[in-house]
Amino acid sequence: MEFKIKHGDLAKAKTPCLILGVYAKPKLSGPAEVIDKASGGALSALLQRGDMTGSRASCVVAYDLPDIAAERILLLGLGKRKELDRSGFDKAFAAALARLSEISVTDALFALPKPPKDMNLYKLVRQTVMQAAQANYRYEHTKEPAKDAPPQLQNLSIWIANKDQDAVATRAATHGKAIADGIELTRDLGNLPGNICTPSYLAEQATALGERYAALSVEVLEEADMEELGMGALLSVSRGSREPAKFIIMRYSCAPISQQDNKPVVLVGKGLTFDAGGISIKPSEAMDEMKYDMAGGASVFGAMVAACELQLPIDLIGVVPSSENLPDGAANKPGDIVKSLSGQTIEILNTDAEGRLILCDALTYVERFDPALVVDMATLTGACIVALGRHPSGLFTADDELATEISAAGEAAGDRVWRLPLWDDYQQQLDSNFADMANIGGRDAGAITAAAFLSRYAKKYPWAHLDIAGTAWLTGKPKGATGRPVALLSELLIRRAGIET
Ligand code: BES
Ligand code: MN
Ligand code: ZN
Repeated sequence: MEFKIKHGDLAKAKTPCLILGVYAKPKLSGPAEVIDKASGGALSALLQRGDMTGSRASCVVAYDLPDIAAERILLLGLGKRKELDRSGFDKAFAAALARLSEISVTDALFALPKPPKDMNLYKLVRQTVMQAAQANYRYEHTKEPAKDAPPQLQNLSIWIANKDQDAVATRAATHGKAIADGIELTRDLGNLPGNICTPSYLAEQATALGERYAALSVEVLEEADMEELGMGALLSVSRGSREPAKFIIMRYSCAPISQQDNKPVVLVGKGLTFDAGGISIKPSEAMDEMKYDMAGGASVFGAMVAACELQLPIDLIGVVPSSENLPDGAANKPGDIVKSLSGQTIEILNTDAEGRLILCDALTYVERFDPALVVDMATLTGACIVALGRHPSGLFTADDELATEISAAGEAAGDRVWRLPLWDDYQQQLDSNFADMANIGGRDAGAITAAAFLSRYAKKYPWAHLDIAGTAWLTGKPKGATGRPVALLSELLIRRAGIET
């Protein structure tokens, strides 16, 4: 999909479809007023007839306006001007995109209204581009596109009122496209079935990214390497599977020379390509959705792509421990005790709490990078969905400043998180009579005890954990990967790189 920034005389703009905002009451947006004047009041007349009230996400299409070059006008209801915020804008624009698809419009020009109260022009343009690109996403790896599927939007031009802001808008559009590219990869990897998207497949995709981007170097550790290092927790999960585990390391290095000794940001993602639970096997209902248990790892891939496309001036390392979790004669058994890379021993009381077992070795491994920050993403607990539902990801960190930074990035990116406590009080739930810790903490506060477990392996650097169990994919009819939290991670990295947003 192509994006362009435009300005100049809107009445003369040739386009199959010009999108104009209308506020509730109804009241024309700035660009709509321009068209109204140029067409001798054609839009005011339409409003007077009551066809468009301006209620949020309502759409009316009008044809052949006098003295207007656009073939048609899509009036888009934005709701009350004062109440319009980012999420309201998202809902409205989504409706416009759906209507464009219904009427088979493949080329459109969106004359942006004034930015909503919690956005500036950069954010509005970036969001518009990201949303349009994401609305076009189709999963096609194992299914032919429907023959009667409506054609997709191919060109979206964005009209801005002030030509002085062309540079900001162009930058925002480039950023939006880069982040959308990352999100698309994350969704694709997530949606692929477990029999295709295996740990080896993920490793191959990483290698391919390394070939695509000069700034990215990729290394894959094999089970023998992990054995030698002493990753006993990760390997214990993999032992029950016929697919060999892979430990994927992607290094993106673009910090300016002046900051060469800057510490890297490290992203760690759970890459469990299928989680049947192991010997503590899961019930079969919706078990297919456990193909999404590598979504955290997929979000690392997405964030790396966004960083490469944006050519962010930072050092970034992505680490994806990847394995399956299946029942087998060699699989972990409840009561088994394994030794992690950190040297701490773990009593595996439930083999379905495997995410923390592969992540703890990754968290120890990344100590060697002397990170400025480590953020891990994992579809870690059903308990997180019980606690927070499917709107925010769970955020866990002992570092208040970092919590504020990540929450703000999520808020700005429309990819929100909500913090849960990580107090020491919870640690005792992990006590074991036979090992340094158990891998489960009982019924209470399951998302927190999982994070508390990980915290024992993340003591040497600033660290935050995102439990994305409720946000990484949609269940039910719209089943599919969301690409979350790539938007949040990209925003975080853009801000860390000191780029103005
Ligand atoms: N991958 C699951 C968590 C999960 C379950 C995410 C459902 C999204 C939807 C994880 O490996 C798991 O099985 N966690 C257990 C932990 C329990 C055994 C302490 C869970 O949440 O039930
Ligand atoms: Mn599990
Ligand atoms: Zn899992």
